[in-house]
Amino acid sequence: MKRVLFLLFTWSLAALFAVAIWRDTDREWTRTQRRFFKTLAKGERRGLSPGIKQLIISDLDRVDRCTTCHLAVDKPQLALAEEPFTAHPGQILQSHPPEKFGCTVCHGGQGLATEAEAAHGDVKHWEEPLLRGPLVQASCARCHGDVQAIAAHAPLAIEGEALFRAKGCYGCHAVRDFGQTVSQDLTAIGSKSYLLMEADFEMMDPPHDRIQWLTSKLRHPRRLNPGVRPEHLPPGEEEVFPSAMPRFGLADDEVRALAVYLLSLTEFNPPVSYTTPAAPPAPAPVYSSAEARGQAVFERFGCAGCHGSGGLGGRHNWNGGLGQEIPSLLHVKAYYGQDIESLKELIRRGRQPVPRADPARPRTLLYMPAWADRIAEEDLDALVAYLLSLSDRLPQAASE
Ligand code: HEC
Ligand code: HEC
Ligand code: HEC
Ligand code: HEC
Ligand code: HEC
Repeated sequence: MKRVLFLLFTWSLAALFAVAIWRDTDREWTRTQRRFFKTLAKGERRGLSPGIKQLIISDLDRVDRCTTCHLAVDKPQLALAEEPFTAHPGQILQSHPPEKFGCTVCHGGQGLATEAEAAHGDVKHWEEPLLRGPLVQASCARCHGDVQAIAAHAPLAIEGEALFRAKGCYGCHAVRDFGQTVSQDLTAIGSKSYLLMEADFEMMDPPHDRIQWLTSKLRHPRRLNPGVRPEHLPPGEEEVFPSAMPRFGLADDEVRALAVYLLSLTEFNPPVSYTTPAAPPAPAPVYSSAEARGQAVFERFGCAGCHGSGGLGGRHNWNGGLGQEIPSLLHVKAYYGQDIESLKELIRRGRQPVPRADPARPRTLLYMPAWADRIAEEDLDALVAYLLSLSDRLPQAASE
């Protein structure tokens, strides 16, 4: 009896062992490699061996196994048209050789994984999604202190930053010590953990990752607010809450550029040998008039985020007086033309809270922030000149 049991035991061990070996030769990456090696002539195989490939980048604390499947990224002579066997596009691997840079520092994803889904970050617990196609431009600013210097290679990153300014995002959000504190600081939004804050992804289509979150937020600013679910809201208020962020009506390519810019804002801090010098200080601009200077101040500080481009208005402020809108600035001259000092004082100190349309309902979420510690007095004079000039643009504005 004992002997039979012993035999059964050894047989099952042997069987388990065989299954393990078979499993190991039938992994996704082994199949991928077999597919690739079949396309090669005998001579071409020289120097190439099967097995897991890894790029160990100790300076960046990474081990990237992407080249286990992406076998020809740095061997254009062997490349095929089909992924993962293409040659790397462009010349970028020449200035960023794989032995020194790896792949994930630019593309995100999960370096150690050997299955495509996991490697591409398409798994629940991994927060770094793969940056495909032009989205990879989000990573350039992590090392390039002056993205303008590589502008030709990162046009979306440049466009996104310009849009962030032009749309007035700085009127509510700060990035690296510049901007208002009406809403959250976006300095590290590109590496924020949505897992930790248990963000509500129910209101958006999959994939439930950071790229999709930021893109959806830009498309539907008012609908998405991390951490707040519609069923937690008072009846009838789902439309206005959870978010006070205005709708900007962004076009798809603007959403993409802004997403690239937001994704580029991370806490990643590479060693100096991986960085390039910061931008030289910009020369002080010369303005043709006080109004022109004031317009630049208006644009730089993001007044448009709340008052609309050119102060035209149209931004919703739930339960605010004046038709639940933030006032347009076209009538500043009529209201304050006789009392410039009180206009300046309003801008310096801001105004909060804003009178409510319905006193029984909660206070408005948006208010006029204070600018005294941000806008220098000479700039304030120019800003006021610009605001007073806005009424002259009225007929033009109306016909637009
Ligand atoms: C197990 C094999 C495997 C591994 C490991 C792997 N990939 Fe891929 N990769 C693929 C396959 C297959 C495709 C094509 C299908 C797809 O787009 O998902 C692909 C596609 C891609 C694409 C996009 C191509 C396109 O046109 O959209 C990028 C970029 C990429 N991989 C980068 C990486 C990076 C970076 C890593 C390492 C973190 C990695 N891959 C690891 C198999 C792999
Ligand atoms: C310095 C940044 C950088 C590094 C490092 C880098 N790439 Fe790329 N990669 C790019 C850029 C830029 C593109 C072109 C994107 C586009 O289509 O505009 C690209 C494109 C690709 C593509 C084509 C599909 C796509 O998404 O456009 C694949 C596949 C790819 N890279 C894989 C890799 C692998 C594997 C490694 C590691 C050996 C790697 N890359 C390292 C910047 C980088
Ligand atoms: C991990 C840091 C890092 C990342 C990420 C990175 N670079 Fe670089 N890049 C460098 C360094 C360092 C050099 C300088 C290499 C040298 O000359 O020794 C360089 C050089 C270059 C060069 C050539 C030299 C020049 O200034 O003309 C270009 C172009 C370039 N990078 C573009 C990009 C683009 C586009 C991206 C994003 C897709 C990117 N880089 C992402 C670190 C990085
Ligand atoms: C009038 C004020 C206001 C302006 C202007 C504004 N936002 Fe917001 N934004 C908010 C508020 C309030 C929140 C926080 C509540 C929420 O998430 O909806 C927010 C949240 C966000 C988030 C989500 C952060 C996260 O945790 O995921 C992003 C991203 C964002 N804003 C980007 C932008 C961009 C880009 C612009 C310019 C196009 C912009 N915002 C302009 C008020 C504003
Ligand atoms: C976060 C949103 C926000 C930003 C950014 C903002 N404002 Fe305001 N502003 C308001 C609100 C709300 C009011 C209405 C206050 C009230 O009703 O008491 C207001 C009122 C004003 C008024 C008075 C208008 C009137 O009809 O009485 C002026 C002038 C003004 N803002 C100028 C500016 C300037 C200049 C900037 C940029 C430096 C700016 N605001 C940035 C929200 C904002």
